[in-house]
Amino acid sequence: MEKVTDYLVRYKNYNFAVGYTTAEYIDSLQSFEIRDSDTFLVTYPKSGTIWTQQIIISICELDGGLNEYPNNLEQMPWLEYREGREDYSLRPSPRLFASHLTPALLPPGLKEKKAKIIYVMRNPKDNIVSYYHFSHAIADLESPKSFEVFFEQYLTGNVGASSWFDHIREWHSKKDQYDILFLTYEDMVLDLKTAVTKICSFLGKNLSEASIQQVVEKATFKTMRDNSKANYKFLPPEKLSGDFMRKGKIGDWKNTFTDAQSQRVDRLLQERLGDLSLNFIWE
Ligand code: PPS
Repeated sequence: MEKVTDYLVRYKNYNFAVGYTTAEYIDSLQSFEIRDSDTFLVTYPKSGTIWTQQIIISICELDGGLNEYPNNLEQMPWLEYREGREDYSLRPSPRLFASHLTPALLPPGLKEKKAKIIYVMRNPKDNIVSYYHFSHAIADLESPKSFEVFFEQYLTGNVGASSWFDHIREWHSKKDQYDILFLTYEDMVLDLKTAVTKICSFLGKNLSEASIQQVVEKATFKTMRDNSKANYKFLPPEKLSGDFMRKGKIGDWKNTFTDAQSQRVDRLLQERLGDLSLNFIWE
């Protein structure tokens, strides 16, 4: 892996946080065996990962047959980070994985369309602000000197998981190769029940109305903030000094962005992703 900064290393065109994984392990994913019963949650960081993680886990729990793990991270670990866990190929089915990787780095077996992928996107302005705050909260990322500095790093892709624009393009342009459901963070904020119902039906889980309502209640910001299995407060304080559950809102970017920064993101969106006809909800 090539050193980018004291906090980031680059491998196969993708920035990883230092010490989280190795080139050998990332290479090994090319022969990682995918099972039909695997479910993957794929996101660019700070797009609603732990939220959707909680929803998928609750749905699968109510459907029955999930193995017991102490918290959501252990139940649905990031494929790219083993962090001392058992070899994932030894995990019993059904396996749940999260990932921030791009298609090229994930196991090619996912293209056989048997395993399911849920991809969650968040509007990039709120995504930048969330990522900025998180970079202060988590010890393994560089604390940005200022929002302006972070804004530039993000737009040039000099952050963990590299460029948001590339991530979105890669996943949207390859969507036909996968069995994939696209959701947005904003749709989830505006109508959580519809998002839960969509996830349920995509996963082929036939939950009752009461069970769906239970999943929704377990996934509200307030419930998750107090749920020690879901809120990542179980991470040691020397690793996490702030909150994963920070504000959970659409439009918080307006408290931080200048007009010029907002217009710059609008322009970049048009230049880099204009052809994908994506819809963004900004407030
Ligand atoms: S990570 O580090 O990539 O796993 O982070 P991720 O989970 O993708 O993103 C964290 C942001 O998601 C918000 N979040 C929620 N919003 C609304 N409702 C619920 N239940 C919820 N759970 C997590 C979390 O607050 C972070 O966004 P910000 O804007 O920083 O508050």
